[in-house]
Amino acid sequence: MNYSGLLNTYSRYPVEFVKGEGAYLYDTEGKEYVDFLCGIAVTGFGHNHPDIKNAVQKQLDGFWHVSNLYHSSAQESLAKKLAEQSGLNYVFFSNSGTESIEAAIKFARKFGKEKYEIITTLNSFHGRTFGSLSATGQYKFWEGFAPLVPGFKHVAFGEIEAIENAITDNTVAVLIETIQGEGGVNVPPSGYIKKLRELCTAKGILLIIDEVQTGMGRTGKFFSYLHHDVIPDIVATAKGIANGIPLGATICSKEVADAIKPGNHGSTFGGNPLAIAAANVVADLLNEKTLASIQDSGKILMDGLHGLHMNEIKEIRGKGLIIGVEMQNGFSSKDIASAMLKRGVLIGTSGDSVIRLLPPFIITEKEISKFLLTFRNVVSDMSVQKN
Ligand SMILES: Cc1ncc(COP(=O)(O)O)c(C=O)c1O
Repeated sequence: MNYSGLLNTYSRYPVEFVKGEGAYLYDTEGKEYVDFLCGIAVTGFGHNHPDIKNAVQKQLDGFWHVSNLYHSSAQESLAKKLAEQSGLNYVFFSNSGTESIEAAIKFARKFGKEKYEIITTLNSFHGRTFGSLSATGQYKFWEGFAPLVPGFKHVAFGEIEAIENAITDNTVAVLIETIQGEGGVNVPPSGYIKKLRELCTAKGILLIIDEVQTGMGRTGKFFSYLHHDVIPDIVATAKGIANGIPLGATICSKEVADAIKPGNHGSTFGGNPLAIAAANVVADLLNEKTLASIQDSGKILMDGLHGLHMNEIKEIRGKGLIIGVEMQNGFSSKDIASAMLKRGVLIGTSGDSVIRLLPPFIITEKEISKFLLTFRNVVSDMSVQKN
């Protein structure tokens, strides 16, 4: 291992970026890359967005930090926007996805009093800190970190009976992604989320939706559960919320919020002024027109992928601008991502065989065509080498 001073937690691609503009990034050699990853679903409005930059700059010129001990009208303004869009009432701000999930778990347990069990799904991903890691339904992330936090049950994703059978008198909540992002861009059968809401209501347990990856416009609705005509009891979101400035948000119903008192939870940096300034602009930019254009661009990309008619593709799935392409016949997602990087296109992966596409909302047909052409060429070159 080369000594970089950095702990070896990431296998990094051999490129360093020095500049970003819209849907493009530029490396130290000045080479241009079209960004179909957005820092893993973060920079939805692209790099260097002028309105977001101006808002952060203005806040920088004022102050950077005062703690959460004082009133903040900017936090309150964002909280009201998130409450309105989510159909819920109160917001707790943190700094990341995993923290937004930790808060959701704590609020649910506080609400549940003596009840503490939370049902989550296999292949889910909820974060890397102990609560969210214990909620995550993938063994590879737990390995070596036992004992985990007790009280989590993992059942099959997409099967309502599996959740129903797991509910006991101790169950306080179900925690779920509407599309499993990290786990393979897995889309559940239609009607699943709606039935889950009905089940939770009937059993008197909370429905917590993890919108860390799918929220903030990614699927073409402000929150992805709005495609399913449901309102959860708690929503956790982060990633795209401030277009790259760290921020997490946990949004709760009034009933859940009533269980929380000063001192029950907190964060020194949570809802920091720079992130809140950026997120207030992001929330305004995510209007009906933008959400419709995300759905349109997602359809163009999805249709383009289907139009490639490639034997190497097993399945194409997703919603809006979160799309997974599952490869078959031993094609490795990492090899494809590396080859595409060399040709100036950044993409993500979910496991060994799924490539994950998370382009910015400002993507145009020009960039979609560039992606499709590069993807087709990379995979056909790899096919030739294999044979
Ligand atoms: C659905 C989901 N939940 C939680 C997280 C954790 O977010 P963070 O990496 O900001 O802690 C992620 C990150 O990929 C995620 O995709």
